[in-house]
Amino acid sequence: MPLNRRMALLGSGGTLLAGSGAAAISFLRMGSSDGYAATVAASRAALGADPDLKELVRFATLAANGHNTQPWRFRLSQGRIDILPDFTRRTPVVDPDDHHLYASLGCAAENLALAGAASGRRGTPRFDDSGDGSIAFEFGPGPSQPSTLSHAIPRRQSTRMDYDGRAVGAEDLRALATAAAVPGVDVVLLTDRPRLDRMRDLIVAGNDAQMADAAFLRELKDWIRFNPRDALARGDGLYGPCSGNPALPAWLGPFMFDLAFKAKAEREKIARQVQSSAGVAVFVAAVSDRDHWVRAGRACQRFALQATALGLKLAFLNQPTEVPRLRPELAALVGLPGRRPNIVMRFGYGPTMPMSPRRPIDAVLI
Ligand SMILES: Cc1cc2nc3c(=O)[nH]c(=O)nc-3n(C[C@H](O)[C@H](O)[C@H](O)COP(=O)(O)O)c2cc1C
Repeated sequence: MPLNRRMALLGSGGTLLAGSGAAAISFLRMGSSDGYAATVAASRAALGADPDLKELVRFATLAANGHNTQPWRFRLSQGRIDILPDFTRRTPVVDPDDHHLYASLGCAAENLALAGAASGRRGTPRFDDSGDGSIAFEFGPGPSQPSTLSHAIPRRQSTRMDYDGRAVGAEDLRALATAAAVPGVDVVLLTDRPRLDRMRDLIVAGNDAQMADAAFLRELKDWIRFNPRDALARGDGLYGPCSGNPALPAWLGPFMFDLAFKAKAEREKIARQVQSSAGVAVFVAAVSDRDHWVRAGRACQRFALQATALGLKLAFLNQPTEVPRLRPELAALVGLPGRRPNIVMRFGYGPTMPMSPRRPIDAVLI
């Protein structure tokens, strides 16, 4: 998914062009990165003292989700919030069976439950497999219990840069594994170099397969927002500067993508990313159905929030889960043969990047 290094290098010319002043920026009609940062900061404000249900939904939408399509809608009622899948926001090429869509709903459900507890509304998200694929969060009154994880919600991000290679201590690794414990999901942490090397090779193999697929590239490109103006207008998608790429005018972005997104550079980038990470977490549910895909999403969101609280960065490298023929080898690598691995996430110490956009809450309410 990430754009590549050559795009960043090639794009430095574009940055220079834009850097020659506000006039050049408005000429290019890219919008301002300051305006972008202010809007995104407002969407990530801390929860107030007595948040209403819309505020809880805002926190739910800050969850990780595939391609940042935000494939969810929310229905509010007395004592209950339902999260419904929004199938108009599917990504059928990379996610033909909606596995990522349901995992994304699980990430949002976890945020919702944590924000609910923080505001004195306790409950456990429940997936109804016989129904319309929605998740019910029914809550009752309780003490307001903000937690390490709920505080981390607005600060968590997918950081797709190189990390600094430092190891994570045993106590913090234990905290990560404990936080990620969700019934029905195993999380396996790889920190030894021999297995990380095998993991890198699987990610590269998956990436090579995807880059050879024109439909995959078309779908990915469709969800990239090349400049602040487009990112704010749509409120979704993959904003280039979040991945270290320069903002580009809408007419130039797709052209630069085609020019710069090449397999060899991506292979080198993946190798650097895995090498510079402290480890990789693999989430594997016991059963492969929608209920367990939601649970895997909840587990990975909890892991990511705990990592954020510990000052770590994280990023998904899901290619070997997305290319079906690679799943058996990935499952064997983590000692769970025969199962379908759900999510691959690297972690380590790295830089803070711009935060990704979200749509306004009214756009996701039913
Ligand atoms: C199920 C799932 C799969 C994902 N797969 C990838 C991936 O393969 N590569 C990647 O860079 N990000 C991946 N992401 C991360 C999303 O792109 C990211 O969460 C989204 O753009 C929002 O950005 P944020 O996490 O910084 O809030 C995935 C997220 C989810 C929930």
